[in-house]
Amino acid sequence: MDLLEQPIGKIARDIPGATSVFHKYGLDFCCGGSKKLSVMIEDKGANASLLVFDLQKLIDLGEPSLSWNVAPLSDLVAYIKDRYHSIYREQLPELIRLSARVEKVHADHPACPTGLTEHLEKMYEELGLHMLDEEKNLFPLIMAGEISKARPIIEQLVDEHENYGRQLEAIEEITHNISAPEGACNTWSALYLGLRTFKVDLMQHIHLENNILFDRIKTEGF
Ligand SMILES: [Fe+2]
Ligand SMILES: [Fe+2]
Repeated sequence: MDLLEQPIGKIARDIPGATSVFHKYGLDFCCGGSKKLSVMIEDKGANASLLVFDLQKLIDLGEPSLSWNVAPLSDLVAYIKDRYHSIYREQLPELIRLSARVEKVHADHPACPTGLTEHLEKMYEELGLHMLDEEKNLFPLIMAGEISKARPIIEQLVDEHENYGRQLEAIEEITHNISAPEGACNTWSALYLGLRTFKVDLMQHIHLENNILFDRIKTEGF
């Protein structure tokens, strides 16, 4: 099947390593998962032939598909919680601390990420509530196998994920695509390194929920 005609979330789910290609070309595979690859490429102005070439190389490698497509949902939930939910509770306070320092010390620099600290504080608060909602309301239903009761809860969580996608875009704007200026101090470099990790983690987290966990809950016959 023509890759360009497939939803980007499906490609991210089915081809191991595809998410790295999407990061490379700046394509949103998590919140925009239901859009066709061709539409995403056009929106971003990316080079379609190069991107498809990169994906084709991964297909030719023939690595087995990620097990999350078939693993028990309870295992996937446990993985999301252990690998992703706990990380923001450590990662974001440190990024907020670094950001406050950079904004204070480099306030006069033209590349200073003005407003970043406030933005990260807002994300920390909202993500915290979102994850708590998943942990208290959604995940226990999945763990107990009560999947039909989980279905109505999903819509709001997907909307919130879209909001995080927009918030990540705002980070890119504030930080000039998360690129520190020439000769940036260690704190500034550490902040942007951490922000890039935060972005990759959050996109992968949302991808696992939107395109695998929620899709399986919606489509598998429970
Ligand atoms: Fe989550
Ligand atoms: Fe979530």
